[in-house]
Amino acid sequence: MMKTLIFNGSPRKKGDTVSLINKVIENLNGEYKIINAYDCDINPCIDCRYCWDNTGCCINDEMQEVYTYIQECDNILIASPIYFSELTGTLLNVGSRLQTYFCAKKFRKEKSIAKVKKGAVIVVGGGDGNVNKAYDTACCLLRHMNTFDILPVVFSHNTDNKPAIEDEIALLGVKDIISFFNE
Ligand SMILES: Cc1cc2nc3c(=O)[nH]c(=O)nc-3n(C[C@H](O)[C@H](O)[C@H](O)COP(=O)(O)O)c2cc1C
Repeated sequence: MMKTLIFNGSPRKKGDTVSLINKVIENLNGEYKIINAYDCDINPCIDCRYCWDNTGCCINDEMQEVYTYIQECDNILIASPIYFSELTGTLLNVGSRLQTYFCAKKFRKEKSIAKVKKGAVIVVGGGDGNVNKAYDTACCLLRHMNTFDILPVVFSHNTDNKPAIEDEIALLGVKDIISFFNE
């Protein structure tokens, strides 16, 4: 069965990011797991360097389940509001735990994730600044998870004036994500 891992970087339970995530999961095949960055038991990496020599991560929290899901899943979606032109800091805290994959390659010379995945990124912003920095960072996180086939960014960048769920262009982008993942 197809599996999709979704990272939600928003603290707002009925906000713009969540409204677009809900649109994605409405028509997504298979099963999915959502990691709500603001509402999960995942601590930031503390650069203890355990993973320079050992597989995995020694911090025993909810990220351990996420590591397992990362091995199994077919698709990964990163969805976040833009804060100061970036993904939210809290989402980056979760993302910092992907450092173990970087260290696998660099120090342990191991390939830590066998399965190649498809990736997509949704970002929403009030309207100032641009989406490129957040998208670049999201792509960097995706690459850490062996995800190189990544769709162009889907964004709603005027949410101060129009909720993302009413943004026709963003909704078309969401449809592209669904067909890309389901195909
Ligand atoms: C701390 C903070 C920083 C923000 N920085 C930006 C920004 O740099 N660019 C932008 O377009 N919007 C910025 N915003 C606006 C949010 O991205 C926008 O309200 C977004 O739609 C919220 O998404 P959500 O409802 O999914 O949480 C910022 C909001 C906050 C709270």
